[in-house]
This record gives sequence, structure tokens and C-alpha cells, in this order.
Amino acid sequence: MTTAAELREASARLLQETELTLPSLGLVPTMGALHAGHAGLATAARAANDVVVASIFVNPLQFGEQADLERYPRTLDADLELLGQCGVDLVFAPSAAEMYPGGEPQVRIRSGPLADKLEGAARPGHFDGMLTVVAKLLHVAQPPGARFRAYFGQKDAQQLVLIRRMVGDLNFPVEIVGVPTVRASDGLALSSRNQFLSGAERKAALVLPRALRLLEGRAARHEALDPDSVLEMLASERSVSLDYLEIVDPETLEPLAFNCRHVPFTGSALAVIAARVGAVRLIDNVQLGPE
Ligand code: PAF
Repeated sequence: MTTAAELREASARLLQETELTLPSLGLVPTMGALHAGHAGLATAARAANDVVVASIFVNPLQFGEQADLERYPRTLDADLELLGQCGVDLVFAPSAAEMYPGGEPQVRIRSGPLADKLEGAARPGHFDGMLTVVAKLLHVAQPPGARFRAYFGQKDAQQLVLIRRMVGDLNFPVEIVGVPTVRASDGLALSSRNQFLSGAERKAALVLPRALRLLEGRAARHEALDPDSVLEMLASERSVSLDYLEIVDPETLEPLAFNCRHVPFTGSALAVIAARVGAVRLIDNVQLGPE
């Protein structure tokens, strides 16, 4: 489907065909260039819903540089093939003119202070653009008379926190489902950016999941997290330039100032990391303690 009207009509038809009193629709928003991580989202949506819609839209509002937007891989045929294999019923792949018929939208979602830190500090305006398109996609896909769920990866932890916050703060009638990060067999979190790493860079990048695993193990054993020792490990990998490693509250994303350095860890937190490996910026995170 390339227009909102087509999508609404097709999804209403499929929901009606289920003949259920309260069917459910699962939405999987993506920007395409799909990999097994996205397949994880689609599979989770398929398992829990009667009708599954995926969207593919490279959202210009969430890119800082025009060059990044142009460089973003477009692989529509392969994406459709993968979504078909995952059992997705409908794909919504609108043009920019369909999503933003009046050109640059003048009214947007402002993501607020939660977006000033971590990824937001490195990518000004990114989260406002992301939330604006997610709000639009949720409105377009919202099924009347059906349960509505939308699926996002836990790998983009700050994005997920912000989407949950927008949906709660602005009363969007949708359940947001966070889907666990899919990793390659060497431990690297799947990302469409991994394809830009050279062999040597990929090897070096493995220090990121290693660092997170170390913290995860310490948290599980209720040991002090001792982040300084993890920072030393990261610094030993010369081609990795660390942007941040933070242990934060999973909802407020505020750094935990206590209960993690030199005392047994007992709480619940998120360890978030971002680093540049060569020219590629990678992010990852892991839950510490119970979710
Ligand atoms: O995570 C992504 O792929 C994008 O940020 C999203 C949620 C599809 C919005 O463009």
C-alpha cells in the first residue's frame, strides 16, 4: 500500500474477515534495509495479532544531514520478501509526499528533556523527527474497533522510552511492545549500519557487547558494577572511540549515581553504550537486574 487510504481500507477488510468481535492489529514501523532484527519484530507481531502491518518509510525528519538520508540503503524488494516470510499481511510504503503532503510539517512532536541526553545529545532534532513520524504512522494504522499494538526494538532503548512516553503523555490508544535485541553469533547487535564495518572494525566492535555482558554478569551476581574497569577495557580497543557508557534508570534515563560502583548491585537499570568504530556509530544496551 502506498497511501494511507489504501492501507485503512485493506486493513479494515482483513480485520472484518477474521469475524472476531475484537480482533487485533500489530504494526511494525521500519525504515527498510531490513535484517533479522526486524524479522524479530515482525515475528513477535505475527504471533500476537490477527492482522500484521509493517511500514517502510525512510523518514527525512529524523536525519541530521541530507547526505545521511541519501546514503540510507533502500532495499524494497528484499524487504518485501523478508516481511512476506515473516507472515506480514500488509506493507505500507508511502512516498514522502504522501506522509508530508504540505512539505515540511510545521506542527511536530517535541520530545522534551528525555531526548536531550545520550543519542539526543549526539543527534539534535533526531527524536523530534522520529516521534513525529511515529505519531503519524500510529494514526494512519489505528484500526477502528480492534486492539492495536506497535512493535519496536529494545536495541534503540532511548527511542523506545520516548515512544512509550509520547503514547502515555498524549493518550494514544495503542500498546507499545518492546522486542529484545537480536545479535549475530559473535554477539554484535544487528543493525543496518554493521554492513559498513570492515572486517577489522567488526572485530574491534565486539568490545561493545563484551563490555555490556561484563556488566550484565556482575548485576546478575549482585556484585559492584565497577564501570571504571569496563571503561578501561573499552579504551584498550584503539579503533573504538567511546561516546558514552552510562548506567541509567530504565524510565527516566537519568544516570544512577549510587548502587552501581562499589556496592553490591540490587536494582534495575539499563547499561547504554555508543561508540564510533571507524566511521560507523554503533549503539547497544543491556538490562541490568529485573525488567
Ligand atoms: O527505528 C526505526 O527504524 C525508526 O526510527 C522508526 C521507528 C521506524 C521511525 O522512523
